[in-house]
Amino acid sequence: MLQDKVLQEDWLVACRSTDVKEKPIQIMLMGERLAIFRNSKGVHAFKDLCIHRGAALSLGEVKNDCLVCPYHAWEYDESGDCVKIPQLPEGKPIPKKAKAVRYACIEKYGFIWVNLAGNHPEIFPYPEMDGTEFRNVIWGPQEVQAKPPRIIENFLDVGHLAVVHQGYLGTETHREIENYKVNHKDGRIYSDEIAIFQPDPDGSGQAKYVYYTYEILRPFTVRFTKRDRENDTLMTILLTVRPVDEEMSIAYGILSFNYETGLSDEEITAFQDEIFSQDKPIVQNQKPEELPLDLQVELSLVSDRVSIAYRQYLKELGVVLGTA
Ligand code: FES
Ligand code: CO
Repeated sequence: MLQDKVLQEDWLVACRSTDVKEKPIQIMLMGERLAIFRNSKGVHAFKDLCIHRGAALSLGEVKNDCLVCPYHAWEYDESGDCVKIPQLPEGKPIPKKAKAVRYACIEKYGFIWVNLAGNHPEIFPYPEMDGTEFRNVIWGPQEVQAKPPRIIENFLDVGHLAVVHQGYLGTETHREIENYKVNHKDGRIYSDEIAIFQPDPDGSGQAKYVYYTYEILRPFTVRFTKRDRENDTLMTILLTVRPVDEEMSIAYGILSFNYETGLSDEEITAFQDEIFSQDKPIVQNQKPEELPLDLQVELSLVSDRVSIAYRQYLKELGVVLGTA
């Protein structure tokens, strides 16, 4: 397992809820192979390793609420205890050591989250999914050959919108970023509203200013809300990134709208895929791969305040993975 105490003790995204059906699945998280399965009590995550002969439990099946190893059919209940060994003669007790290693696991916001340290901290809030005001669309997975902090910082980067996403999320004529602050209030870290001139933010064909508020929720989970001041409509995108191993990450998102977009879920995710495909070559080729937390290392502008706040946040927390 990749060593990073802060991340091991946090909820990290493992996959979408819809990925875990009746069959167990294998997920790589922080270099650790997990078997994730669903039974009548919910979703559970084990180390993907049977103590008998090292088989991958994720290749097995779920039967009578137990995860059954594919090799000799030992049955593990959701606590990780082995409750049946078919090779044992009737009446012989199951050895005490016959257990699977279990990680903390919850299902929330349309995703499965795993805590590798086995803790149950409170998960970050996402009020857009609490009520019925917002339509929520799950986005991803998107594989990226980069470390999570570079991916997250790209998402928090205001200045690139009118360059990398020119014609989509910005225009060449409006690249200047007005001054803004990052607020640290009540344990939250969020920017002021930042004006961004977009060619067609609401699909009407009318170019205008919209206002972005960025917020840092967790080391690998951030969001922004785009507000149209004319009609007070809101769109939020939450980005959360799974550290797969040293080289690879997988990005997921939630896109939330409090207005009628006139688009299907497929059209919404296809647009987001296109935007992401514009960022991907940039992020996959940034050097160093590790996000520099020493603010003297790269050259920041005032308009990079959200990124700077993110770097400071990671530094204060002591996040190691993907930082330098
Ligand atoms: Fe799992 Fe034998 S390796 S039951
Ligand atoms: Co981008």
